[in-house]
Amino acid sequence: MKTVVITGAAGFLGSHLAHHYIHNKWRVIGIDNLSTGRKKNVDDLLCNPHFVFITHDITKPFVKKLSAKRIDLICNFACPASPPQYKRLGRETLLVSSRGVINCIDVTRQHSARLVHASTSEVYGDPSIHPQPETYFGNVNSYGERSMYDEGKRFAEALIWTAQHPPDGSKPLNAGILRIFNTYGPHMAPDDGRVVTQFIKQAIAEKPLTIEGDGSQTRSFCYVDDLIDGIIRLAKSNEQSPINIGNPDEYSIKELAQIILKLTGSSSTVTHLPRTEDDPTQRCPDITKAHTLLNWKPTISLKEGLQKTIAYFTKSENIK
Ligand SMILES: NC(=O)c1ccc[n+]([C@@H]2O[C@H](COP(=O)([O-])OP(=O)(O)OC[C@H]3O[C@@H](n4cnc5c(N)ncnc54)[C@H](O)[C@@H]3O)[C@@H](O)[C@H]2O)c1
Repeated sequence: MKTVVITGAAGFLGSHLAHHYIHNKWRVIGIDNLSTGRKKNVDDLLCNPHFVFITHDITKPFVKKLSAKRIDLICNFACPASPPQYKRLGRETLLVSSRGVINCIDVTRQHSARLVHASTSEVYGDPSIHPQPETYFGNVNSYGERSMYDEGKRFAEALIWTAQHPPDGSKPLNAGILRIFNTYGPHMAPDDGRVVTQFIKQAIAEKPLTIEGDGSQTRSFCYVDDLIDGIIRLAKSNEQSPINIGNPDEYSIKELAQIILKLTGSSSTVTHLPRTEDDPTQRCPDITKAHTLLNWKPTISLKEGLQKTIAYFTKSENIK
């Protein structure tokens, strides 16, 4: 039986990964400090003999906390991910992207395992080319209200590159990096402030949907099942350089609001707030590399994914 360590296992993406690997007969060690995640996302796994949950902050070493003799894979998904949360936890976001990643690298090395690290499309900042290929270096503000996240994630990628190219000739780290574009689906925290959860909540409550700016800024939204498929393919591969994973179908925030209003049957209106600093104008992945190297592309339409997400929010999160 293979063993995977998942950091951020109580979060949105980490909990989906934990379910995937348990379902596929792996032993799963989930680590989380519950700063933004919720144990309810893995509640159903807690009685499974192949699932272990450790409450721990990965900025502190954790190699000694792992009971498994052999670890095959480390999926590093621990990090605040929504703008309100990484702004609230600015220092923690920088630390988990630096010390946290170093600790993940140490565990990976000790077990000669593979590391899969969750990076982000935010490494491209407010991009000046469109769509964004992995070769684009980004347009990022190092000193602003999003820089703890954007620069933290860029620093983490640089740490991994350094471990993959040791100057002393020692064994290079085996690691894959996912640059994840906006992903949504069940297990997102209803109050995490991300646009999909916020619009669904507001629409169901018949409150005005709050759009930042005029809503012409675009995003591409990937349903979580498609993303998990991409992560698994990257984990199985030997690919060492960053890969974009996201859905290239691009929608403006205005369009997203209208789709959610229609799917929820809400009679809410929309209202506009000032645009936040460094909010990207356009965001869309070039997924040629994922398609070529991993034979991956998304299959779930925005409408289908939103229907599943709305059903989850109304049933499991009791949002009315
Ligand atoms: N969901 C997206 O659209 C998206 C997009 C780009 C990148 N990502 C990346 O994917 C990863 C997971 O994102 P998510 O959407 O699941 O967010 P999330 O907030 O739901 O999950 C993150 C988890 O990490 C945990 N955590 C945070 N700091 C920790 C620490 N120091 N030690 C241990 N646990 C810690 C949190 O408690 C939480 O359970 C993050 O690295 C994020 O940057 C997500």
